[in-house]
Amino acid sequence: KRVVHFNVTTSTNIVARQMAEEGVEEGTVIVAETQTRGKGRLGRKFITKGGGVWMSVILKPNIDPMHASSITLMAAVSVTKALRGMGLEAVIKWPNDVFVNGKKICGILTEMSAETDIVNFIILGIGVNVNNDIPLETATTMKAELGKEVSRVRFIQALLEELEEDYLTFKEKGFTPILWNWRRFSDTLGRPVEVSCQDEKIRGVAQDVDEDGSLIVKLTDGTVKKIVSGDCRHLK
Ligand code: BTN
Repeated sequence: KRVVHFNVTTSTNIVARQMAEEGVEEGTVIVAETQTRGKGRLGRKFITKGGGVWMSVILKPNIDPMHASSITLMAAVSVTKALRGMGLEAVIKWPNDVFVNGKKICGILTEMSAETDIVNFIILGIGVNVNNDIPLETATTMKAELGKEVSRVRFIQALLEELEEDYLTFKEKGFTPILWNWRRFSDTLGRPVEVSCQDEKIRGVAQDVDEDGSLIVKLTDGTVKKIVSGDCRHLK
């Protein structure tokens, strides 16, 4: 498979989308040292200075667009496995942030091109704080947690191996085995949470994720809500 490397680019997700539209092969990886327009979830900016791993993978799964979020949850599982392999106690915060010691170490942004019933391609964008400095109190890096610099090449290799394994499992056996790992690694399930979605704030206890990646929250009055997307805060 091809790995395309940039010193500087706008956003690996933007480049990957252009390449996918030009028909590039599934599995092509775009990596950049720095991005000038790093994109985060929910239209936010994502800081991507030198020293981190900023990459996008082009995937062409044969799935219903409705099930595309499975790929995002799958990626969180793969990243968690790769980080654990390097000795970090990584956990997943719904839907797909990876945390170490209560601080964010990785963010994932998937973008899709689809028609009504078929996915053309999915851009899986992954940003991991490795050796980069990070100005945020709420985030951490592999270097800070391990007390030493990490080989980014080794980490990318480990991550791509995990991704490949999980993607093959997903294609052969479906989302269920991935979801079991997601649950196992999740730090959200069982906790009181506050989820902001559109102009609503939902408070309750996170009970489960379902087959489409939605979070099931039980409110204090006993009603159960299914949240498709939003920003989740752990309350305790
Ligand atoms: C988030 O936590 O909000 C998601 C952040 C995703 C960042 C990665 S870095 C590589 C890829 N290119 C982008 O512009 N964004 C993703």
